[in-house]
Amino acid sequence: MSDKIAEEGKLSAARRALSYVKDDMTIGLGTGSTAAYFLHLLSEQVSDGLSITGIPTSKSTEKLAKKLGIKVTSDFTGIIDADFDGADEVDSSGNLVKGGGGALTREKIVAANSRKLVVMVDESKLTEGHLSRSKIPVEILPFMSQLTVKKLQMMAISCEIRKSFTTDNGNYIVDCNFGKIDEPAHLESQIKMLPGVVEVGLFVRMASKIIVGSRDSSYELNY
Ligand code: A5P
Repeated sequence: MSDKIAEEGKLSAARRALSYVKDDMTIGLGTGSTAAYFLHLLSEQVSDGLSITGIPTSKSTEKLAKKLGIKVTSDFTGIIDADFDGADEVDSSGNLVKGGGGALTREKIVAANSRKLVVMVDESKLTEGHLSRSKIPVEILPFMSQLTVKKLQMMAISCEIRKSFTTDNGNYIVDCNFGKIDEPAHLESQIKMLPGVVEVGLFVRMASKIIVGSRDSSYELNY
């Protein structure tokens, strides 16, 4: 798939997702290029009078939202009405790999505290069957990070620390190849049990709706 077609798919998914934003909602604002399309479209509605409060999942999203005139907060204790985010890979059951942009921890906190997670993707992100194509990002603490990487390497086919990258939380990202993931929930809990691991970019049974965009149309998968 060409980059241009993928971009058009992302935009079309973001446009459709916007129809789920209603006045007075508190919504999660995802991270990445698809989420950025969503923010631009959302800001047009805000200029037209839509009143929403956004909870950004990264510093970059916070910066863009503010620049576009969208009200944001991270000081919120209620249930978020809906979270709008992208993904790196989606399997046939709606499980996700996220964290290509390194924002997985904040993304998971916001998703887990939302009534629904609306995922916006272009068709290239869909995988028939089990997750298998993306490396799984794992956020780890810098303290004794080489030891944590070694432990992860023992579980995976291969793992590499992301070069010259620090998360918004001051941590590192390790990208791990686990091959085909038959049991994502099991793998997620195994990784999370390792001391030093902050979060893993496997989002299992969290998505309520996957919006798939292509050049001239879009459709939804509901879970
Ligand atoms: C950010 O950490 C990620 O989880 C993104 O949501 C994911 O990488 C999708 O990004 P794009 O929308 O840029 O493809």
